[in-house]
Amino acid sequence: MTGEVAARAAKGFTAEYGDRPAGSWAAPGRVNLIGEHTDYNDGFVLPFALPQLTVVAAAPVEERRWTVWSEQSGEQISFDGSALRPGAVPDWGAYVAGVVWALADAGFDVPGARLAIASDVPLGAGLSSSAALESAVLTALVDLGGLELPVDDRPAVAQRAENVYAGAPTGIMDQSASIRCREGHALFLDCRSLAVEQIPFDCAAAGLAVLVIDTRAPHRHVGGEYAARRAACEAAAERLGVPALRDVAFEELDAALARLDDPVVRRRARHVVTENRRVLDTVELLRVDRIREIGPLLTASHASMRNDFEITVPEVDTAVEAALAAGAYGARMTGGGFGGCVLALVDASAADAVAAAVADAYAARGFAAPLSFTVTPGPGATRLD
Ligand code: GLA
Repeated sequence: MTGEVAARAAKGFTAEYGDRPAGSWAAPGRVNLIGEHTDYNDGFVLPFALPQLTVVAAAPVEERRWTVWSEQSGEQISFDGSALRPGAVPDWGAYVAGVVWALADAGFDVPGARLAIASDVPLGAGLSSSAALESAVLTALVDLGGLELPVDDRPAVAQRAENVYAGAPTGIMDQSASIRCREGHALFLDCRSLAVEQIPFDCAAAGLAVLVIDTRAPHRHVGGEYAARRAACEAAAERLGVPALRDVAFEELDAALARLDDPVVRRRARHVVTENRRVLDTVELLRVDRIREIGPLLTASHASMRNDFEITVPEVDTAVEAALAAGAYGARMTGGGFGGCVLALVDASAADAVAAAVADAYAARGFAAPLSFTVTPGPGATRLD
């Protein structure tokens, strides 16, 4: 799969620029095993990298100009140093220009470049196609320019591209996953200290599989809802007099909730505090190889997103219910919410049957057919050649 998407990027480069690229760089999308909307609360997350990649074929140019072709849009765009201000480049180009801007803003002398982009990461499915794009471009420019930016510091730069340039107030999970994940492992990330622990996650050895179900639910008001959730969490932390909801211990949850008057804010806080606990419990089980037993934690995470954080939609809830009824050990929506993907932990031998059961439940409710596939944890961003 890597070969194919890399070949498409290289071929696109040659077709657009009549030249061969100096190299290719790849970065993956991600699925989050557990820990949703905890990242911007300084909490814990446990994503892993998808085998699906975004590949950037690139070559440096003398002048401070960036020319970018994307297979997805079929367009070529170009911008120079004067576009290095948030908002100057719109649409998908914002993720590329945003990375150039964020690197320059961090004091780096960013090399001008020609870039050609191809991707297998599904767009708009909550699998972090934008973080994959940012991370691939960042890795390419860092290498081309010989910039001294340690790998562990790169996600924060890519996140600034997303937050400040593209204008989405997201946390640091997606860029961290795309850059710091390791093959065969889930990334246990403390979003405050940015410390990571690579947690072995070998489903196949346990006869299990992670089934990803792209619910294909139309995204509804995603941007505004995400910002509203974040604001509610910040209001809760302020009311409780703590820097972030991460600082509310699970054992103190009831006392903390009693101090929050607004029932909506109370529910949002309860999700975050219980979700952090579920991440820690999941990590404990994975450390001792009790993979099957994380199922109920995944399902509890989903219930919390549905009831307390209120970010699920009927398609997502239907997929989770149908997967569980068909024998999944656990299932939950993954990503920011309001559509996107569901993941289910299933016996490897049952993956097709669970996918079929979800498709049947969709047909019965008149939803557009879902798209299901199994995934294993791949590596983070890297140079391919
Ligand atoms: C999106 C954001 C992440 C994170 C998730 C929810 O993917 O980009 O930072 O907040 O939603 O967990």
